[in-house]
Amino acid sequence: MAFKRSNVPGEDIRLAMEMTAKRRQLIDETPATPLVYEYGVNRLAKALHPGFVKAVIADKTPCSSDCVKITLKLSDGGEFPYFRAGQFVTLSCKAGDSYLSRPYSIISSPKEALAGKLEIMVQRKGIFSSFIIDEAPSGTELWMGEPSGDFYHDSIRDRSHILAIAGGSGVTPFLSMMKAIREGSEDFRLTLVYGARTRAHIPFDPEAFKCEGVETVVVLSEEEAEGYKHGFITADLLKKYVDDDTSVFMCGPDAMYRFVGKELESIGFDPARIRQERNSVGDREVDEIKAFRLTVHIRDTVYELDANNNETLITALERAGIPAVVRCRNGSCGFCHSRVVDGNYYIAKKDDFRRLADRKFNYIHPCSTYPESDMIIDIPIMNP
Ligand code: FES
Repeated sequence: MAFKRSNVPGEDIRLAMEMTAKRRQLIDETPATPLVYEYGVNRLAKALHPGFVKAVIADKTPCSSDCVKITLKLSDGGEFPYFRAGQFVTLSCKAGDSYLSRPYSIISSPKEALAGKLEIMVQRKGIFSSFIIDEAPSGTELWMGEPSGDFYHDSIRDRSHILAIAGGSGVTPFLSMMKAIREGSEDFRLTLVYGARTRAHIPFDPEAFKCEGVETVVVLSEEEAEGYKHGFITADLLKKYVDDDTSVFMCGPDAMYRFVGKELESIGFDPARIRQERNSVGDREVDEIKAFRLTVHIRDTVYELDANNNETLITALERAGIPAVVRCRNGSCGFCHSRVVDGNYYIAKKDDFRRLADRKFNYIHPCSTYPESDMIIDIPIMNP
């Protein structure tokens, strides 16, 4: 109730004296219904950005000599949040005394996920992937981060034809994109050039994705077979599929990025139109492995653990069973943003995506940071 100021002398005092009675009257007339704390927009925001949710492994299907398709369902039977074809989810769980986590590209299309089923493809490589394939039976419950990442087609940034170049399990974001084009939820053309050693190493059926707007080309390096190219993904092959309306998306090992990047350079392809999905930051090579003492503050809880100079701080935290906040594991999303209270550390230039202010005020991304002395850090709390 607003108090209106009056120009009549003494009137303000009279109005102020009436206010208490008027307020009492308004309170008495107001129904005693609870206040609304959640509006439609809050529910929509929660559905799109649920943070971490619980999901269970519903099915596992082998799809090549070293890849397995994993079907996930939400533990509460609900719908997966909407995502753009090409995004990833981060899975994590407790295994023994440690935490394990890793991001995986989604291979389902956005429409399939809305129907309550989300699929990822896991290659038997690394501790967590081997755990998921060999040790986690159907029904195993995992934490799943909401869909993330910017490796999707953006019509403002990217051309209308995508030349997708992939090797190994790097094909996964493109499987989702090809399905999305087929179902009509994405509107661009995609040519997939996929490199594999032999047909046994191909984790998808190239014929199954053929549709208007999608072409697949498989290049085998160690086998000659009808319907497949033989050799490597070279400039001679690539120049057949690039034109003025092409952007290149690459997903695979760093060695592939270096090789294909040089081939594209040799045909004069504009590097500004090349995008690479970043790989997780792993262990680094050091002359001598040293263990440092790491003190970790999560709000008012303090942990003490050892951290080796060849492993990232996130790896050390997870090994010690501390549930650290993590999403991309490559230093780019900023989700694990933490403060260094004391100590020295190393971040490779290619993995340092911190803002200028973060560098100045000693903030780091533990997923891409290696300890170089005893350290004290302050990390965020998991939201579950
Ligand atoms: S998890 Fe993305 S920056 Fe660390």
